[in-house]
Formats: sequence, structure tokens, C-alpha cells
Amino acid sequence: MLDLRLSVAPMVDRTDRHFRFLVRQVSLGVRLYTEMTVDQAVLRGNRERLLAFRPEEHPLALQLAGSDPKSLAEAARIGEAFGYDEINLNLGCPSEKAQEGGYGACLLLDLVRVQEILKAMGEAVRVPVTVKLRLGLEGRETYRGLAQAVEAMAEAGVKVFVVHARSALLALSTKANREVPPLRHDWVHRLKGDFPQLTFVTNGGIRSLEEALSHLEKVDGVMLGRAVYEDPFVLEEADRRVFGLPRRPSRLDVAWRMRAYLEEEALKGTPPWAVLRHMLNLFRGRPKGRLWRRLLGEGRSLQALDRALRLIEEEVGEEGEKEKPGPKGQAERAPGLAREGV
Ligand SMILES: Cc1cc2nc3c(=O)[nH]c(=O)nc-3n(C[C@H](O)[C@H](O)[C@H](O)COP(=O)(O)O)c2cc1C
Repeated sequence: MLDLRLSVAPMVDRTDRHFRFLVRQVSLGVRLYTEMTVDQAVLRGNRERLLAFRPEEHPLALQLAGSDPKSLAEAARIGEAFGYDEINLNLGCPSEKAQEGGYGACLLLDLVRVQEILKAMGEAVRVPVTVKLRLGLEGRETYRGLAQAVEAMAEAGVKVFVVHARSALLALSTKANREVPPLRHDWVHRLKGDFPQLTFVTNGGIRSLEEALSHLEKVDGVMLGRAVYEDPFVLEEADRRVFGLPRRPSRLDVAWRMRAYLEEEALKGTPPWAVLRHMLNLFRGRPKGRLWRRLLGEGRSLQALDRALRLIEEEVGEEGEKEKPGPKGQAERAPGLAREGV
């Protein structure tokens, strides 16, 4: 049974494996999604580079985009073989590139094709095939039209619907498409009432765990995107309050764990900045959070991270929030996952 109560949205150039690893340090329960990956890239590209991930990232979904049932089915099969827990089909991307390629949101105009795709994907894999869709297109969406789309996809075997609760306006930029069309979470709530046997996750503009919890009274799950990237500690209480796990991470512990991760990755040839760039917001809104960001952004190296860590530790020491690390330093301070209750 999938636990979809809380997830982090697929975001191109954001939710790569390094950011996902960081988020996993903050919450063990939250479900993670890859960046949107076009089927042809999976079929022809460097699969290891595109699809590999660490076991800690589970539960983890691969988001695919494409328009050809056969290619998508094959890409899904490859994803399953890599160990993904879920294959998600993108039916929400409004970009020009997606329109040219006939994938993403514009597929919502051709539900017969969507059914063919979903059937082919469903036959190719044993893990759940899910969708992430918008309410409709060009601001002409109706609740009836949305419900019909859900029915059509359910007929093709889909049981989980992640709904970015706004229309896609194909003439607008991708960025504007995340702001301009009005949010209608109430439609997703209503879908749950009308199709109680299906699973619905609502997404769009949710900024806090408190807000997420209030949606959870009406739907099966909530997906947060930008709020998590802008401050991963928006999920600070997710394990405790959503998943009933008695842990609460500390920013400093996560930073130390990421330092160890960076060193491990460096041995495999990963440039430090590929990891560090996702750590810029780790102390957002905290004392010295801006300085942390500046040191990492300017230095882009392990040495810069060490300087920033020293600075934060001094601050924390002064605040008396927690004890300083022991004389053995980071070996002691890298206990794997963040400790509880700090
Ligand atoms: C930088 C960025 C990249 C995104 N890339 C994807 C993507 O690859 N696949 C997808 O389905 N949605 C993508 N989205 C949309 C998000 O998944 C999400 O639906 C949207 O940001 C609304 O949620 P939020 O308000 O919580 O951020 C992206 C959003 C952002 C900000």
C-alpha cells in the first residue's frame, strides 16, 4: 500500500539525487519524486547517470514524460528495474518544449492516447503507475471535465492521482503557470468525495506543514514543491506529526550528514557544488543563515562548507541550543540520520 500522505514535488533542476538525499535526512517518511525525465532520455541516454539513486531515497518515484505508449512502457520497465517504487506520468508540464514534443499538459486534450499510454505502462511494470495532472487546459476547465479525465484514467488502471490544482495556460511561461492560474484545491477534495476508492494528492501553493495537515483531512495526500526547496526544514515536524515517527531532525546534524555525503560523492567524481547548491537554504531564517548561504555560494568547496559549519556551530554554542561536537569532530558528528529531539 502506497503511503502518499506527504510528498515532495518533482522539480526539474531541483529534485536531483543530491537534493533528495538532503530531504531524506529531514524526513524519513516523505515520498520523493525525481525530476521529470523524458522517455527518450531513458531509452537512449546514460541510464546510470539519469536513474541511479541511493537506497536511502526510498520511497521514491520516477516521473516520466512522453507521448508514445511503447516508449513510455519501456522507460517504465527500465525504471522499475532500477528499483523505483512508483512510476509517475507527467500530465502537467505546460512548457513549449513539452508542447512541441506532445507530452505533459497538452496530452490532457487526448484522453484516448492517455489511456493507451497508461495501459501500456501498467502492463509493463508491477509497481504502481500514477499520474500528475492539472485541472485542465487554458482556463476552460470544468469539474465535470476533470472528473471525466479521472474516470478515463482509472479505467486504464490508475489508482493514484496527484493534482496540481490549477489549469495550464499554454501561452504562458512555465514559471507563470505556477502562479497565474487560480488554485482550486476544493476540486481535489470533491474528487475524493466522488471517487472514494481512488487516491488523491493535492498540490500547489502549500507553504507549511500546518496547511498540509488541514488538506489531509479531505484528501489522501499533499505534495509540496517550492516551499521545501526554499526551506527544507518546512518538513521538520513531518515525521512526528504525519508519520508518527518519534524523531525531529536538527539543521546542524543534517549539515554534518551532508558533509559526509559530499565527501563520499567527491570520491565518485561529483563536483562539490552539485551537492552544495542544494544546501544553500538549510539555515534559512536562522541566525547566520544568510552568511551560510554566502559562504557556500562564494566558496563552492568542502573548505567553504567547513568554514560555514564552524560559524554555525559557534552560533549554536552561543545560543546554547545544543552541545558542541566532541574532540573527534565530524566523525562523531555524522551519525547517519539526524538525531532525535534536538
Ligand atoms: C523549478 C521547478 C521545476 C518543476 N519541474 C517539474 C517537473 O519536472 N515535473 C512536474 O510534474 N512538475 C514540475 N514542477 C511543478 C511542481 O511539481 C509543482 O506542481 C508546482 O511547483 C506547484 O507546487 P508548489 O506550489 O508546492 O511548488 C516544477 C516546479 C518548479 C518550481
